Formats: sequence, structure tokens, C-alpha cells
Amino acid sequence: MIAESKLYSDPELASAPAGNEGSTGRCLLTLLGIAFILSGLIVGGACLYRYFTPKRLYHGAMQFGDVSAGAGGESQPYYLPRVEEEVEISDSIAVISVPPPRFRPGDPAYILHDFNRKLTAYLDLTLRTCFVIPLNTSVVLPPQDLIDLFSQLMSGSYRSYLVHEDLVVTERIDDIKPLGFYIRRLCDGKETYRMQRRSSLPGGGIEKRSADECFTIQHFENKFVTETRICKA
Ligand SMILES: *[C@@H]1O[C@H](CO)[C@@H](O)[C@H](O)[C@H]1NC(C)=O
Repeated sequence: MIAESKLYSDPELASAPAGNEGSTGRCLLTLLGIAFILSGLIVGGACLYRYFTPKRLYHGAMQFGDVSAGAGGESQPYYLPRVEEEVEISDSIAVISVPPPRFRPGDPAYILHDFNRKLTAYLDLTLRTCFVIPLNTSVVLPPQDLIDLFSQLMSGSYRSYLVHEDLVVTERIDDIKPLGFYIRRLCDGKETYRMQRRSSLPGGGIEKRSADECFTIQHFENKFVTETRICKA
């Protein structure tokens, strides 16, 4: 009896666990390999996706009432002015295409925000002239927030308000190379000027009306519409 059980049990005890161990090990290795390959594919795919589609195009519109025209809800006109724009957003830049406004003054333009160089360039399409100013991060949302805003705008029109921005041309830029690749591409072959906020000019930037030659661009890159007035004072 004892010998028999030994005969039976011995080979099983000796071989079965060994065989199990071997196949479990191989199985684990195979699984690990597959997981490794899969994760490689996923990460690689994500990288390729980012690389090949760095920009996305969005379209949005905002209606606005002028804050300076009174905040009362009753005094709203039947027709609220509306700004439409198309914007291309990537990690480093946002390029906004502003069509000529209907029923209102304002120039069509391309506006480029370079988030790496911290610069904004306005290309006025009526004047075919470029205007450059440091990026104002309290007005321009960062790329991801811009994407969120435009995703929100796609699901209907948005009621907002108007903010005025008063800029003054300070000097002509002869060499646009230091402005970086994107602004150089936008402003290539156009007269390019540097600007400042009027309020930051020495003397508070008191307006010399007679000498001013001004034009406006209405656009948004935040939850409000900005009317940028550029003066060649
Ligand atoms: C950015 O814009 C806001 C609102 O127009 C203004 O108050 C602020 O002074 C600007 N900042 C700079 C650095 O120009």
C-alpha cells in the first residue's frame, strides 16, 4: 500500500508542479509581452496622432451687448451684434480668422497668438499690414481652455459682452525674423509695426484726435468679445 501510493504520488508530485510552473511562466511571459506590445502601440499611436494632427479648426460665434451701453436687461436691443470667427488651435499657437463684420465697421483680420514666444500679431486684411504686441494672457485663454470654449460655442450661440482695447503703433519693425516662425510666415512681405497699450504710453497716452488714423478689429479668445482699436498716432 505504502509502496503503491508512493509510486502513484511520486511522479505526480515530481512532474505536475514542474510542468505547471513551466506553462504558467510561459503564459505570464507571453501576456507580459502582449501587454508590452499593446502599450507600445497605444503610446506610439498617441504620439503619431499628436504629431500628425497638431492643429484643429473650430468655428464659433458670440453675440454681445456693449457694457458701456448700460447693463440693464430691459434696454437690450432686438438685434444683438454678433462676431463670428474661425480658429485653428495647437499647443503653441492659435490663429483666428475674423471675417468682415456685417452691418458694423471693423476690418477683417488674421490674429495669431504665439503662446511660446508670448506674442500676438494682428494682420489687418484691409490694410495688409501687421501689428505686433506682447501676448496678454489675461485676455487670451491658453490653448486647452480655448478648445473648451469653442466646443461650448458649437452647441449654440453665446451671449456675451464687449471689452474695448486701445492700442497705439509705436515703431516699424524692419526685421521680423526674431518674431518667430509663425509670425514671420503671417507677416512676410507686409509692413509690420510694434504696438503698445495706450494706457501704458508715457503721459497716459492722451489722444491727439486730429493726428489719429484708427481702425478696429472685433474678435474673441475668451468669454467676452474684444474690440481692438489700433491707432497710428
Ligand atoms: C491685459 O488686458 C487687460 C484687459 O484689457 C488689461 O487690464 C491689462 O492691463 C493688460 N495687461 C497687459 C500686460 O497689457
